[in-house]
Amino acid sequence: MTLKFSTTADAPETAATPCLVVGLYDDRTLDGAAARVDGKSGGAIQRLIDGGDATGKPGGTTLLFGPAGIAAARVLVVGLGDRRKFDAAAFHRAANDAGRALKGLPIESAVSFLTELEVPGRDLDWKLRTAALAADAQAYRYTATFKPKDAPKTPQLAAIAFAAADPTARDDGDRALTEAAAIASGVRFAKELGNLPPNICNPGYLAAQARRLADEHAGVTVEVLEREDMAKLGMGSLLGVAQGSANPPKLIVLQWNGGGDARPYAFVGKGITFDTGGISIKPGAGMEEMKFDMCGAAGVLGAFLSAVELKLPINLVCIVPAVENMPDGNSYRPSDVLTSMSGLTIEVLNTDAEGRLILCDALTYAQKFDPQVIVDAATLTGACVVALGKHASGLMTKDDELAEQLLAAGTATHDRAWRLPLWDDYQSQLDSGFADVANIGGKYAGAITAGCFLARFVNGRRWAHLDVAGTAWDEGRKGLATGRPVPLLVQYLIDRCA
Ligand code: BES
Ligand code: MN
Ligand code: ZN
Repeated sequence: MTLKFSTTADAPETAATPCLVVGLYDDRTLDGAAARVDGKSGGAIQRLIDGGDATGKPGGTTLLFGPAGIAAARVLVVGLGDRRKFDAAAFHRAANDAGRALKGLPIESAVSFLTELEVPGRDLDWKLRTAALAADAQAYRYTATFKPKDAPKTPQLAAIAFAAADPTARDDGDRALTEAAAIASGVRFAKELGNLPPNICNPGYLAAQARRLADEHAGVTVEVLEREDMAKLGMGSLLGVAQGSANPPKLIVLQWNGGGDARPYAFVGKGITFDTGGISIKPGAGMEEMKFDMCGAAGVLGAFLSAVELKLPINLVCIVPAVENMPDGNSYRPSDVLTSMSGLTIEVLNTDAEGRLILCDALTYAQKFDPQVIVDAATLTGACVVALGKHASGLMTKDDELAEQLLAAGTATHDRAWRLPLWDDYQSQLDSGFADVANIGGKYAGAITAGCFLARFVNGRRWAHLDVAGTAWDEGRKGLATGRPVPLLVQYLIDRCA
């Protein structure tokens, strides 16, 4: 369950809440909500500062329990860093720090005054959405595969109210929070699918989740194509990847009809539920992270759920090729030539470049819906992680307007992308002596040549590719799925409805 969000016009000293959240810059000068709380409580925050407990440094939070003179039971003082450098990124960080601290407290609700802080170039809506999404992101816990615990004895955070004192802004604020709540539930859906192990979250499981989503939401239809259906359509590329796995492939098609007879938006997500590399097998170290190779699928499914919860006045089709890439006696092999649904033949030079092989048939299938725009999301290349690291998704498109719209949506939700060129100059790296195209493009520009491969299957349509290999999960032993690029995709759709 996502947190419940609301706005409040209460003053900080009168808000009756288990915990009040206020900010402190590193110059340690009290102002805004912190100054008012300090005044009413006889200098309680100033004493924290004087004692060295609260420094205002970013990343630091300090808890004040039971201050006199105010209605709140606790005050959480969040370090904001340098006042003059307090920008969107700093606000985002403070909101996440606050969320993390709140998660550890035995409380069910809180009231945050962070939304009253000045952020250059950002309005109240942005602050509400950012603070709400950060709080929900921090409140998420993965529990699915632990031994069930008794119901927690301590209360858990379930609701948070944000200061929005300006009455003219409050209607807007409610809309911003409605959008944030929908994005948060899409993010949670995507995180949960990403985090589940591949022995549970296999292609059949993804299909079952899509069916459940359709059952639970009016206006959603679902269709799942089986191996035989895909064979009839000639999806030889997708089926080539699938042939080494005991888990049969699924092609999931979800449709939301909220836009009458308008042409749909189409989202396509890479759903490799586990990527061993196949016969071109990956090294053992770190292979477990390849359970996250369906995070593109999780991202488009999450974004779809958000769009449905918001009942956006658009048509949206969400296509997920769900396949497991395994080595086996029946596996496809390097040098195999596959015939894709488009008719183009593909020489497989590396069975670990499988994502593009399932996406190309999904992209061809997507065109059946005559979409006005196609966006795919995929954990497609390690090369994208080398190029952009863990902070930006790689965006590739030939359409400058679409690029601007997607980049803007990413900036607005702090789910940022960065554009890489998709020039035809790179296409010759995919030349093959035995088929129309090879599935790998050599050692240079691996993220771009993967994008160039996909470009061959979209027939000049308005299309963008998001490589989320670096952004969809946090690496390491306890790294969890991030839910990206759900915020970017949903914001993109919301902006199209404005
Ligand atoms: N799923 C991987 C990409 C990946 C690797 C994502 C590491 C995140 C972290 C993809 O299927 C893959 O294996 N790509 C190969 C392509 C290569 C064989 C051309 C890669 O990036 O090494
Ligand atoms: Mn691979
Ligand atoms: Zn992969």
